[in-house]
Amino acid sequence: MDAMTSTTRLLPPLRIGPLEVDTPVVLAPMAGITNAAFRRLCREHGGGLYVAEMVTSRALVERTPESLRIIAHDPDETPRSVQVYGVDPATIGAAVRMICEEDRADHIDMNFGCPVPKVTRKGGGAVLPWKRDLFRDIVRAAVREASRFDIPVTVKMRKGVDDDHLTYLDAARTAEREGVSAVGLHARTAAEYYSGEADWSSIARLKDAIRTIPVLGNGDIWQAEDAIRMVEETGCDGVVVGRGCMGRPWLFADLQAAFEGRPERVRPGLRTVADTIYRHGELMVAHFGDDEDKAMREIRKHMSWYLKGYPVGGEVRRSLGLVSTLAELRSILDTLDLDSPYPGAEAEGPRGRQGSPRVPACPDGWLDTQDITPDLELRLREAELSVSGG
Ligand SMILES: Cc1cc2nc3c(=O)[nH]c(=O)nc-3n(C[C@H](O)[C@H](O)[C@H](O)COP(=O)(O)O)c2cc1C
Repeated sequence: MDAMTSTTRLLPPLRIGPLEVDTPVVLAPMAGITNAAFRRLCREHGGGLYVAEMVTSRALVERTPESLRIIAHDPDETPRSVQVYGVDPATIGAAVRMICEEDRADHIDMNFGCPVPKVTRKGGGAVLPWKRDLFRDIVRAAVREASRFDIPVTVKMRKGVDDDHLTYLDAARTAEREGVSAVGLHARTAAEYYSGEADWSSIARLKDAIRTIPVLGNGDIWQAEDAIRMVEETGCDGVVVGRGCMGRPWLFADLQAAFEGRPERVRPGLRTVADTIYRHGELMVAHFGDDEDKAMREIRKHMSWYLKGYPVGGEVRRSLGLVSTLAELRSILDTLDLDSPYPGAEAEGPRGRQGSPRVPACPDGWLDTQDITPDLELRLREAELSVSGG
């Protein structure tokens, strides 16, 4: 069987430093989504690397309870993957040191892709690589600390600020030189936000430019066939899947099957979907330390994704969107027509954030030069605030 599997595999296992990931699929870090509860649901379906929500380096260094919750993993979760965000090399270095010394993760990804205004306005996320030296110093600090523990660091970035300020090729070469173990590219600029279509040709260009570490492609994988097409069109070494798995954790079963050359796809009827929603609710309650109220507030946003395309009326959808206890969740789910089969194409396709193009908010004068001035350095250090992402 093994021999057969290896001959039909589309890609070899993904090697991220010392880690070997059999299925070359990464669950994209998504703030407010990819907590340990959701990761468990996803992991149960297929192989891959499942990244936690982003955490700010400052919050980690301050040991805020929320930041420690974000980087916590279930005991059976391996490898343990976290994503760190920050704009100051010293704080990033301290946060990475803390994660490594305290054995809190096996892989650290760095967020240089967030386009949310409250992040980019401070010079963080997707607009940071424009400041070449700052980007290098942040990556260097993270790799320096993590490499002492043989923990791989990866970077996740966008194409750049906008079409006139592209950064990804330069930044990826720098990251490669500084010793990161893989680079991931969400093939949009910050200005594009989540609009339009991801430009997979930029992933192909990145793959041409980066020879010694894996290149991971990201953007608009809604079904397993999209992942295969991305690999074929770009030559990337693995794929990063975000919105496509929201309300569809079984996508990871499809992805594993597709990468192993198998035709099976999970096409759940409404009963399975309802059971998954309930289970997600239970896992969320456990994740939030039995705070049922908080867990139910968090699960509400998943409802429309889970139910996309299924015959569920507006009234029931609305009541699910207001659910406040597990018991209430169960009783509403029990009113559904649970024998409804998989609805087909209507359950597929884009879901989640779309947004429209926008001029990215940047600190004053940010785009005037790629160099960093002492004044800006000071302001950035002060800007290490608690933010959560995208
Ligand atoms: C709700 C939401 C939260 C996100 N949070 C993060 C984050 O914390 N860190 C990050 O690097 N990207 C974040 N992203 C971006 C995704 O990781 C991913 O790059 C993006 O959604 C494109 O992939 P997709 O087309 O497969 O969704 C977020 C996206 C969404 C929709």
